[in-house]
Amino acid sequence: MSQQPTDTWNPASWRNKKARQIPVYDDDSTTEGVTDRLRSFPPLVSSWEVERLKTRLAEAAAGHRFVLQGGECAESLEATSEEIITGRLKLLLQMSVVLIYGLHMPVIRIGRFAGQFAKPRSSDSETIDGISLPSYRGDIINGSEFSKISRRPDPERMIRAYNHSAMTLNFVRALTSGGFADLQHPEYWDLDFLQHSPFEENYRGIVSSIDDAIRFLETVSEAPVTGTDSVQFYTSHEALLLPYEEALTRSVEYGPGIYNLSTHFPWIGLRTSEPEGAHIEYIRGLANPVAVKVGPDMDASTIKSIVRTVNPHNEPGRLTLITRMGVERIENELPALISAVNRTGFSVLWLCDPMHGNTETTELGVKTRRFENIVGELELAFDIHKASSNVLGGVHFELTADNVTECMGGARGLSEQDLQRKYTSRVDPRLNGEQALELAFRIVTKRKGDDT
Ligand code: PEP
Ligand code: CO
Repeated sequence: MSQQPTDTWNPASWRNKKARQIPVYDDDSTTEGVTDRLRSFPPLVSSWEVERLKTRLAEAAAGHRFVLQGGECAESLEATSEEIITGRLKLLLQMSVVLIYGLHMPVIRIGRFAGQFAKPRSSDSETIDGISLPSYRGDIINGSEFSKISRRPDPERMIRAYNHSAMTLNFVRALTSGGFADLQHPEYWDLDFLQHSPFEENYRGIVSSIDDAIRFLETVSEAPVTGTDSVQFYTSHEALLLPYEEALTRSVEYGPGIYNLSTHFPWIGLRTSEPEGAHIEYIRGLANPVAVKVGPDMDASTIKSIVRTVNPHNEPGRLTLITRMGVERIENELPALISAVNRTGFSVLWLCDPMHGNTETTELGVKTRRFENIVGELELAFDIHKASSNVLGGVHFELTADNVTECMGGARGLSEQDLQRKYTSRVDPRLNGEQALELAFRIVTKRKGDDT
């Protein structure tokens, strides 16, 4: 059962704290009009779903489930097509089958979509050919096109982002409960890349073993195996644009908690994670499970303060820490942070995001990530948690089912030249379908190696 915040927290109390990364809109009355409209809209998720996820995350923290959180770096208001939504789902379903089969554990599938529209930026402005304009901050705030009009923060975009999230979620719900996700029909989630993938044979082998197991059970029990035709799917996004999040934060009729009902699992990014800041203030009173990103420069006292502030009642499943250290720094920085949290005696779920600490820029100015660094950080994270008698409960990836060339390496050995071929991300480089599936196999290989 959710705990009520004990002091002066309310969904708007973040307004008394220093808020980073939130745009200043030109016109306060238009912005208020927009947030009033959002308040009148129905929630996108239910408190029952949110509570169920919290229970499952508590099980992952105890080592009984594995979390697969993945999706877009930045969703686009222009791209909400059937193909894009089914592509993401298919890929996450394929990866989860590999993980369930290989790790012998249920997988909690959490999309980075249906609300992943706001982006923190290192710099407030961008200069091209001597012209400086505000940085692009995600489609919920402004446009990516480099023009004065497009870069102006526009509050109406919050309504469009809500509508697009609702559209996406509606289709995801229809697919995951309506037979598309049926384990007995994995051909529904075939993706084009699979036929050319070096992992096709391994993947097909798993699918056929699952089919054999189902047939065997049916023969033994003399009844059809049921319950394989739907899966639970949860959504998450960075809770960055607090006026939007606040407008969708509600109390519910049948329980004491106050929930962010725009998503199941909001997280706070690295650039807004200071314990005294507005973003931590906002999430500390929510009944949702919440996550905070942890980078290599965070010190022990800050991480302890986050743990105590966000989860003062030590509620299981409530707080997830997503580490994104970079392959170069993880060995030096992560062990001390784990010990600091362990010394508090509070329970947290640890996930590894091996993407955001491994971003680099090529000589031509292209942002990319190397597959071997991503795998490297992930493998080290497993080792470090194990050495600390801790559990690494899951992973957090930026990926797309599309055949993009944004990250280098992988079985196909994408090179720096390949990055010019199909680079469509507007912010961070994502794993393509083939690289993402390969990563699922690498996780299984690593865990199997650790167990022997
Ligand atoms: C992200 O997840 O897209 C992101 C910006 O991450 P971080 O806050 O860890 O840099
Ligand atoms: Co990103």
